[in-house]
Amino acid sequence: MAAHQNGPLAEHQNGHLAAHQNGPLAEHQNGPLAEHQNGHSMKKKIAVIGAGMTGLCTLRHFALDPDYDVVAFERMDTIAGVWNYPEGCEKYTDEPDTSTRYCRTYRNLRTNSPRDLTRYPDFPFPKEVTESYCNRATVRKYFDAYTEHFGLLPFIRFRHKVEQITPVGKAGGDDAPTKWQVTVRDLESGTVTTNEFDNVIVCSGHFHTPYLPKIEGIEKFKGTVMHSCEYRVPEAFQDKNVLIIGAKTSAMDITTEIVPFARQVIVYRRFKVSIFEAKFPNVSEIADLVDFGADHLVQKDGTVRPIDAVILCTGYIFDYPFLSPECHVTVSRGRVAPLWRHLIHCEFPTLAFVGLANMAIFIQVADAQVRFYKAVTDGRVTLPNENIMRDETEAEFQGRLKQGIPEHLAHEMITSQWDYVAELAQEAGFEPFPPVARKMFEANGRSIRAAPYEFRNYRMERLDAENFVREPLNPTGKANGIVVSQEQLDKLDKETLAGRRNIAN
Ligand SMILES: Cc1cc2nc3c(=O)[nH]c(=O)nc-3n(C[C@H](O)[C@H](O)[C@H](O)COP(=O)(O)OP(=O)(O)OC[C@H]3O[C@@H](n4cnc5c(N)ncnc54)[C@H](O)[C@@H]3O)c2cc1C
Ligand SMILES: NC(=O)c1ccc[n+]([C@@H]2O[C@H](COP(=O)([O-])OP(=O)(O)OC[C@H]3O[C@@H](n4cnc5c(N)ncnc54)[C@H](OP(=O)(O)O)[C@@H]3O)[C@@H](O)[C@H]2O)c1
Repeated sequence: MAAHQNGPLAEHQNGHLAAHQNGPLAEHQNGPLAEHQNGHSMKKKIAVIGAGMTGLCTLRHFALDPDYDVVAFERMDTIAGVWNYPEGCEKYTDEPDTSTRYCRTYRNLRTNSPRDLTRYPDFPFPKEVTESYCNRATVRKYFDAYTEHFGLLPFIRFRHKVEQITPVGKAGGDDAPTKWQVTVRDLESGTVTTNEFDNVIVCSGHFHTPYLPKIEGIEKFKGTVMHSCEYRVPEAFQDKNVLIIGAKTSAMDITTEIVPFARQVIVYRRFKVSIFEAKFPNVSEIADLVDFGADHLVQKDGTVRPIDAVILCTGYIFDYPFLSPECHVTVSRGRVAPLWRHLIHCEFPTLAFVGLANMAIFIQVADAQVRFYKAVTDGRVTLPNENIMRDETEAEFQGRLKQGIPEHLAHEMITSQWDYVAELAQEAGFEPFPPVARKMFEANGRSIRAAPYEFRNYRMERLDAENFVREPLNPTGKANGIVVSQEQLDKLDKETLAGRRNIAN
């Protein structure tokens, strides 16, 4: 806590948060919520779970509308979710999510999406930010600026953890919308309160609970085994032999970070691709890991290689411990059901989940989802009936399975996001993605796959609604630029798609 007070919280306490606790929050406690508790308000009462990227966006669209009475519960003492790095948190890797030192990121994190795809559509980064791939402090400041600009702090209850949500009886008869009891623990005082809301919008994130697959023989290994969510700094791997398991962003990013420090880095992925080993003499990439010993791994041909640490970059599972069984939500590794359009509960449309989309322009898909859900709650968009929503949801899911997309990528939107957002936008009456968004997203994806260790050495900027520029930061292009043939790119695309489509566990 003390360490954290020197970081983002201090900033808050001297600025917004202090103002908020003495002013607007007090107002909020005596005002809208009290009014709400007495049952006099005709406003719709909305509970938002979380004040990260999606929760802030939900507040921005709902809380400023006088027809709504909105409160966001946030278990941390600050906004921005995964973009927080509480000062000194590298010393405390396995803090519980109720701790102010809880962290899901690493010190040197930078975005893997260019700035123009890492911002809300209605709020650009300030002019002084010129880097295309911002570091986490810049992203954090961006969320601060957004929060301040739209005056969102008064609507957030920090250090309040939602422990349970339960649907309550349809007071207005069978056709009345379902309301929600939301039980919240004040993490500082320990007080638990339950209030009733008309809608609950879940914005709690899905990169918190690690996916820990069974790795054959790993129990025999006596060295360090950690998940990427516990990784903080590369210096910890000085002169170590490290095995990285996984093939996506965390694996690529952490490999890039530790290569200059580690003695040897071995990257295990299910498909053999030489990306790092061609560039760095201390990296090898393998696809035939079969077993472990106390201090080594074993490959299929019997090769034994010494290792000191294993970093599992195996991703995350969806996890909503606060949903009571009466919510009728099925949560598996990577699917939340039954959600119409990956957003609205088919049986209880007063319950929505924002930000489930994976492998997409996260922030802008989430913004579109919030705008669409606002149109639904405003009554500007009418939902189909429950049976139709269920049928459409199931048909969409089965269509994915038929294409070979594994169940755990049920909310993956790498290619579907364009039509998805266009449909939401058309029905709810807001601007769809401009053509340049797709061009930049696809070019960025290719550049990450081709050279995950140096795609950030490029400037990638939107020029207008159609065009963007991508050029090496080093004007000669020689030091930073790598030459990737069309053939290599096609091979990478094929392997990536094969990985996405054919692996079921
Ligand atoms: C390491 C990492 C790097 C990433 N990099 C990028 C990137 O470069 N570009 C990009 O577009 N996306 C990136 N992402 C994706 C990222 O998920 C989004 O950028 C985004 O910040 C997620 O926002 P969110 O609101 O969905 O979730 P979160 O940021 O996780 O916020 C959820 C909030 O809900 C709170 N919460 C959870 N449960 C409760 C509860 N029960 N009660 C109260 N509060 C609760 C949490 O404390 C948290 O503050 C990255 C993700 C990770 C993990
Ligand atoms: N800004 C950044 O630089 C940054 C850094 C880190 C993370 N992120 C974001 O954080 C999110 C999570 O990314 P992530 O990379 O942690 O998770 P992820 O995208 O879910 O990737 C998990 C990886 O683990 C592999 N895997 C799973 N089970 C395995 C097993 N049994 N054996 C071998 N490999 C296995 C998967 O392989 P298959 O594909 O073959 O199943 C996949 O390559 C993403 O949105 C990402 O963009 C961003």
